[in-house]
Amino acid sequence: MKIEERYEKCSRLLQEYKQKHLLTFWGQLDEGGKDNLLKQIEELDFESLDEKIHQYIKSSSAMKLPAKIEPVPEYPALPQNAEQEKKYTEAKRLGSELLSKGKVAALVVAGGQGTRLGFDGPKGDFAITPVKNKTLFQLFAEMIKASGEKYGFEQRWYIMTSPLNHEQIQKIFKDNNFYGLKERNIFIFQQGTEVNFSLDGKILLEEKDTLAVSPDGHGGSLKALHKSGAIADMKAGGIEYISYFQVDNPLINIFDPLFIGLHVMNESEMSSKALTKAGPLEKVGNFCLADGKMKIIEYSDLPAKLAEKKNSDGSLVFSLGSIAIHIINRSFVEKLNAAGFALPYHKAVKKIFYVDLQSGQKIEPEKPNGIKLETFVFDALPLAGKSIILETIRSEEFAPVKEDQSEGPDNPVVAKKMMIARWASWLAQAGVEIPKKPDGSIDCVIEIAPSFAICREDIEKRKDKIPQIKSGDVVYLE
Ligand code: UTP
Repeated sequence: MKIEERYEKCSRLLQEYKQKHLLTFWGQLDEGGKDNLLKQIEELDFESLDEKIHQYIKSSSAMKLPAKIEPVPEYPALPQNAEQEKKYTEAKRLGSELLSKGKVAALVVAGGQGTRLGFDGPKGDFAITPVKNKTLFQLFAEMIKASGEKYGFEQRWYIMTSPLNHEQIQKIFKDNNFYGLKERNIFIFQQGTEVNFSLDGKILLEEKDTLAVSPDGHGGSLKALHKSGAIADMKAGGIEYISYFQVDNPLINIFDPLFIGLHVMNESEMSSKALTKAGPLEKVGNFCLADGKMKIIEYSDLPAKLAEKKNSDGSLVFSLGSIAIHIINRSFVEKLNAAGFALPYHKAVKKIFYVDLQSGQKIEPEKPNGIKLETFVFDALPLAGKSIILETIRSEEFAPVKEDQSEGPDNPVVAKKMMIARWASWLAQAGVEIPKKPDGSIDCVIEIAPSFAICREDIEKRKDKIPQIKSGDVVYLE
């Protein structure tokens, strides 16, 4: 179709959907710019646009709460009785067997913009380990390599990027020689984007010929896995279970045989790890049974009365917080996509660069001026036939690197301390004396490479390789 015809078609649609302002600078664009702009407009899903604007942009009403919200049962981090102990042993055996048969792959979602951390580059390239300054990507790669050696099968690693960081991430992996993994075992794919809106529901222009867009949230992974061919790739490789994690958690245990085993024994379609919240209002999603279905209700949506409700022993009724660690069946993702599913959107009011329609100037706003829409992966939980939760221990598995040190506790300094503390506790359990300062804090720096141990149990077999540790020592075990 000629460019004039495409313009006419787009112009009619934009008029109909009250977005004609996107063509404000048409007369100033060269041929490439015109083509660029039209391509983006042609890709817009006009059918869902009105509903999106109405339901999510203009509506200020809070999430509609389910009629019945109840606490949800979980598997405790440690077995509580002989029967459970037997079940956990069997689950670990099954999980290990599935890992050694290559039935499980890793999926990291790394498409986020990482704005709070303020790091110039994809978050996965952020250096985090306390001694060797390995980046998050390197750390995960080494864990996957070590798992491959432990279970006798080289697991595949799926990495979700967004169009905003895809090329950078591909380059990082190439430049680092895939961190010692085989290139053929890594599948990098892109998630989709959503356009950004002004507070009154107009799509923003980032440039005169470019719509403002942002990644469509980690929930976008469920569509992108299918669209990119990752699911077909898994099927061809006999992979049945996806171990899902976020790029900003250096304490992740990527392949946990207990979690995998419990998921499979319970015939769950999507399972979650959870931790006991640090307090009623901790800013994590709350696991609930909502009208009988597993659901995560965001901290901002759970009424304070429920958040603070206590059991007779003083513990919180809604005590389980989400840490974005899941096992997802490949067949569940296939089923969702075959049914043309849609996850709800969550709206975030943010500062978004835009081109002012009057002056044509690019504006960096001082206060939030626009809306980004995202979907969240945990909103697929109510769609799963069955779903279980395994509680985990925060100090073992969760140290999110989300923000700058000046902004809050989920920062790299805290995460590094938590990494050292976890490794120190692994060594202490094996009988190693950890030097402490008078105030009880750890008086050395420890880093354990995944090649040395990927979990507490691995340390036992390496006992003879651990040196004595003195105050002030910097110890790296590999
Ligand atoms: P966050 O919600 O912490 O967002 O993502 P973020 O983009 O990393 O950081 P901020 O909010 O801009 O500071 C949690 C995880 O989900 C991934 C992120 O990469 C991170 O692993 N994610 C988030 C995506 O893969 N895509 C998205 O669209 C959003």
